Amino acid sequence: MAVPATVPVGLGEESRMESLSRIDRGLAKLLLYKVDSALSSKTGRTAREEVVKILNKGVPTYAWVGIYLVHGNDLVLDAWSGPQPTSHTKIPLGKGVCGWAAKTGRPEIVSDVSKDPRYLQCFESTKSEIVVPVVFQSKVVGEIDIDGDVLNAFSTLDKEFLEAVAAKIARACAN
Ligand code: SME
Repeated sequence: MAVPATVPVGLGEESRMESLSRIDRGLAKLLLYKVDSALSSKTGRTAREEVVKILNKGVPTYAWVGIYLVHGNDLVLDAWSGPQPTSHTKIPLGKGVCGWAAKTGRPEIVSDVSKDPRYLQCFESTKSEIVVPVVFQSKVVGEIDIDGDVLNAFSTLDKEFLEAVAAKIARACAN
């Protein structure tokens, strides 16, 4: 039987999901180690830039990764890694999924952005999103925002992993 050499046209969302590797415990452990290593040699924005790169390059489902920092009543984009820049470089607290997570201090997983009225679009390709606040000394100082190009790209494991990353970078975000 002939095996198709290329991806068949009309591949459904589910199959596309399978073709993108999601995080697993082994990868999470490796990436946490890389984050530790980056933080041991770098500080401030240089450290944050390294961390977004580690996440974006390390997990195929993390299509665009950004760190926003809280400045007064706004979130300001500080470091990002992905195919293109976003025009949402400043988001008021409470606006968008990002502003919501920062205001409430709770992580948000949006499995289908087209169904969430809070969603602010950055990229046409985005189908799902996860936002995890970064908390330092009981205050939200920033957040990790990740866009996925497939529906349902993020699970509880992504949330737990990103909470661990957020805890590690908290001091570097408070500078
Ligand atoms: N989608 C976000 C805005 C930031 S971009 O995803 C980079 C939101 O709804 O707040």
